[in-house]
Formats: sequence, structure tokens, C-alpha cells
Amino acid sequence: MMPRYVNDMIAPGPPGLPLARPGPSFTPMTSMAQTGAAGIAPAKALIDGFGRRITYLRISVTDRCDLRCRYCMPEAMAFSPRSEILSLEEIAAIADAFVARGVRRIRLTGGEPLVRRGVPDLARMIGRHLATGGLDELTLTTNGTNLARNAQALFDAGIRRVNVSLDSRDPATFRHITRRGEVEKVLDGIAAATAAGLGVKINMVALKGLNEDEIEPMLRWCAAEGHDLTLIETMPLGWIEEDRTDRYLPLTGVREAMAARFTLTPLIDRTGGPARYYRVEELGARIGFITPLTENFCAGCNRVRITAGGMLYLCLGQDARADLRGALRAGGPAALDALLDEAMTRKPEHHDFHIDRRGAAPAVARHMSVTGG
Ligand code: 5AD
Ligand code: SF4
Repeated sequence: MMPRYVNDMIAPGPPGLPLARPGPSFTPMTSMAQTGAAGIAPAKALIDGFGRRITYLRISVTDRCDLRCRYCMPEAMAFSPRSEILSLEEIAAIADAFVARGVRRIRLTGGEPLVRRGVPDLARMIGRHLATGGLDELTLTTNGTNLARNAQALFDAGIRRVNVSLDSRDPATFRHITRRGEVEKVLDGIAAATAAGLGVKINMVALKGLNEDEIEPMLRWCAAEGHDLTLIETMPLGWIEEDRTDRYLPLTGVREAMAARFTLTPLIDRTGGPARYYRVEELGARIGFITPLTENFCAGCNRVRITAGGMLYLCLGQDARADLRGALRAGGPAALDALLDEAMTRKPEHHDFHIDRRGAAPAVARHMSVTGG
């Protein structure tokens, strides 16, 4: 059967589906990303050498994690010494500098952000920009293991949606992929998040021979629970104990197979992000595909990332960077501002990911958990 794409019928995403949840799952970003909420770009907007405006910042609050997902890091992962990590106040000061330069959306991430104490406090510090209109949205990416006891505090800080990484709902498969995780804890965390009023998007890294059979069941579960689902291709970031080629599952094929079974209606991209979203008509679900390997999305890049040590990375897949911690400690906010201007001129045009060459070195030596997944 031919794949049933409905390409000529680009439907607008429903406004904040499902309606019962506070806060839209997909923030209207495309137009606002270019101009800011008030429709006016700040005088000192961050614009790179290719004319791309930076409106989205991902902050890794720690590179540590309580899991060891096989595609992400080795069993004996070396973490940064605590002395090199920014204080929560320094992170908030850096966030302030970016908000002043027109960043409209901030995501807290890791490693696993909730293994660091005080993250809800940090969220509250950054979240005050939500009340003033300086920021459209503050979100969090988590593996969910510590979500149950943090969900309410995160909601109270102004967070309205979280991304939870969940590659399998089967306890044995989950334990195998994460090398140690208990899926029940994550499922409890997701339930607590929903109860606290947080919208949940599930991130699932598609792994050949490991969880590919679970993609459709995961989609059906997400549809039933009211969660969005995003599938992700493994990216060659940092050394791991396996060859990523063995587990690489190109999502173009997954999408075609899905389109043969369901009607996939493309949704207008309102996130400004790399995922391409579709409505699965028969299930009333939404699914996104993050396809850095099969379909490059760098031309529309609106984001930069900060490590827990205060290093600004201008691209997930390149080494171009700027030492924000050094600038902040040596010269305060003014030095930070000047460094941001200089760094913008060095944002790379695109990443150079390849995963089809067996035995090839990772595109960059640092792991996703360092730069902020
Ligand atoms: N490739 C793709 N996704 C990765 N993640 C971590 N490492 C990698 C990698 N090398 C995922 C996590 C999480 C998201 C933020 O990134 O599983 O869902
Ligand atoms: Fe931890 Fe996320 Fe990496 Fe898994 S993918 S080891 S949960 S940082």
C-alpha cells in the first residue's frame, strides 16, 4: 500500500491538545520566535552569521545521571568534578542575560537534571521571567526517575510541560537499555506529573532490535494517556561501549511503515525545533520524528546550549564554544553580553552527523549528557 501522507493538506496543529491540560503542548513559536512575544525583536537580539535568530536556550544543570543508557554513555562514565559546575545563582544570571537578548524559551536538562538538588529553586528563579512576559516558556527534560517527588514543585515554579525519556515500557527491556533503571519509577513519575498539571511528551530513542517492536504500542499508550510522543534517531555523540551502527534505526522507514497503517497528517511546525509532527488520525495522537541523520534540519536552527560548567555550545554536533563561566566570573554581566555577540559570529551552519560508517568515530567527543540532550 502507498504511504498515506497528506502532504498537500498541511493542517494547523490543534490549539493545545488535549485541552484538559494547562499550557499548550506545542507553543506557537514560528512567528514569535522571530519577533518575540510583543512582536518586536529586542534591540540586541542574538542573530548568527547565517541570519538565524537565537530564541531557544537549553541549559544542562548537571552532566550526571542515575541511568546509563547504552546509546548515551558508557557504564563507567566520567563526570565533571563538582568544583567545575556553575552555582544555581550563576545559571540564573546567565539565563537572565539570554532573556535580555531575546531568548523566549528555556529548557532545563542534563544529564538528569533532577539528580541535582535545588533544581525546582532554579526553575523558580528563571520562572520569574514568565510572569513579566520576558519568557514564553520554561520546560524540563528528565528521565523521570525522580519526577514523582518533584512534579508539584516544578509546576509551582511555572513549568507547564516536561519531556520524559522512555525508550521502553517493558521492565526487562528498560533495564537492559538503561543498564539499571526501574521503569515503574518512571511511570509513577509520569503519573505524578500529569496529576500536578504538567503536560508530558515522551521521548523514545528508536533502537534497532531493541525497542522497534514497541513503537506502535508506545504510540497507542501515549494516545490513551494524552501524551505526545517523539521518536529520536541515535546520534553519534561521545564514545560508548557499542557501535551505534548496530542499533541505528532510520526513522524515515518507521514513518513510512506507520503511514501505511495510519493516516498521518503533517502539523505546522510551531515549536521551532527539529521534530516534524504528525497527527495520527485514527488514534487522535500526535507523533514527532527527530531525524538528524536522515533529514537535516539545521537551516532553521534557533538554539544554543550551555553545559553545567558554563560552556556555551553553539551546535550540538560541533565543537564551536564560548566560556560563559569565565566571562561571568571575570567581568560580570557586561562581559557575558560581549562574549555572546562574539560567539554568535561563530555558530556553525550545520552538524556533520553520519552513522552509516561502521567503526567511525563520534562526530564530537562529548556526550549528549554533557551538552544537554
Ligand atoms: N542520540 C540520540 N538521543 C540521545 N539521547 C541521549 N543520548 C542520545 C544520543 N546519542 C536522548 C535521551 C533523551 C533525549 C534528551 O536525548 O534519551 O530522550
Ligand atoms: Fe541518563 Fe538520559 Fe543519558 Fe539515559 S539518555 S544515561 S537517562 S542522560
